Amino acid sequence: MKVAIFSSKKYERPFLNSANEQHSHELVFLEPRLTPTTSALAAGFPAVCVFINDDLGRDTLEAIAAGGTRLVALRCAGFNNVDLEAASELGLTVVRVPAYSPYAVAEHAVGLILMLNRKLSRAYNRVRDDNFSLEGLLGFDLHGSTVGIVGTGKIGLCFAHIMNGFGCHLLACDPHENSEVSALGATYVDLPQLLSQSDIVSLHCPLLPSTYHLINADTLQQLKRGAMLVNTSRGGLIDTPAAIAAIKSGTIGYLGIDVYEQEDELFFEDRSDTIIQDDTFQLLQSFSNVVITAHQAFFTRNALENIASTTLANITDIERGKPCLNQVQFA
Ligand code: NAI
Repeated sequence: MKVAIFSSKKYERPFLNSANEQHSHELVFLEPRLTPTTSALAAGFPAVCVFINDDLGRDTLEAIAAGGTRLVALRCAGFNNVDLEAASELGLTVVRVPAYSPYAVAEHAVGLILMLNRKLSRAYNRVRDDNFSLEGLLGFDLHGSTVGIVGTGKIGLCFAHIMNGFGCHLLACDPHENSEVSALGATYVDLPQLLSQSDIVSLHCPLLPSTYHLINADTLQQLKRGAMLVNTSRGGLIDTPAAIAAIKSGTIGYLGIDVYEQEDELFFEDRSDTIIQDDTFQLLQSFSNVVITAHQAFFTRNALENIASTTLANITDIERGKPCLNQVQFA
């Protein structure tokens, strides 16, 4: 099948080309994000392949459907950027990669925790500057601390295993309890209890209408004072201005994020030569107890191999009219 690969980056092309040796699709790599403005580029392609920050709202979907596209292949797990109702109305099939490396994301969350707790960025820069003072670098033992996991699916489970290894007490919150997480000694509680009892809260639930701004001015009032909040899931889970207010008041003691609600205007590009116009982001950056990475939690060699092979297998299944387990249904 002829596939237009939007938002494509140099680093992922070798993985997609290598996986395509099994499938022989015609892959056309395009750098722009898919948006209503760039949707004309999809004309004549029966399939588009898209990533996290492509805009698959109704306008884009109508435009690509009119241009002959029938398949939207997400090369990511989350599908919050797709208007599934519109896709269904337009007869567009949507497929995704539900799991490519839960370890990658869980391990990155732990990386953020260690960086915040042991102030590794500040320590690294100090030593490079021949400043060997320990002032301001005081951390706390993870062993014995309480970690709250919001969302105990594939990534939350991996994260629970790692934090269990550190000797942490585990609390969990999920409408569907995971027996493997309970087996690690985790106690399922509701969100207010989890927020009030945890020293570290890590978000691993999807962005849905029900989880939009799950962390907001009200729920932040329930957070244990000075706790660490980590988000490697989706930016929209946190109301950023409310989080900023909580950092200023000391309610949030540390914030580690790999995702940001307005990231589609920032992430995945080198903007070092430009003036960033997003004042909220700039304010967040200015706090010494905030660490931001630019949606790289998934970014391991293993994950890219799995993303490429599953994406191309999904496209092959749909092309052959076979049932595809990774099809996203409009409920
Ligand atoms: P999953 O589907 O295996 O698990 C998600 C869990 O969240 C489920 O158990 C579900 O019941 C739970 N959940 C739903 N609503 C909830 C709520 N209100 N409160 C608590 N839990 C709730 O998904 P997986 O693979 O673990 O991924 C989780 C999320 O991680 C994805 O939706 C995606 O947004 C994000 N992600 C981020 C990446 C990154 O690079 N930063 C890469 C891959 C995924």
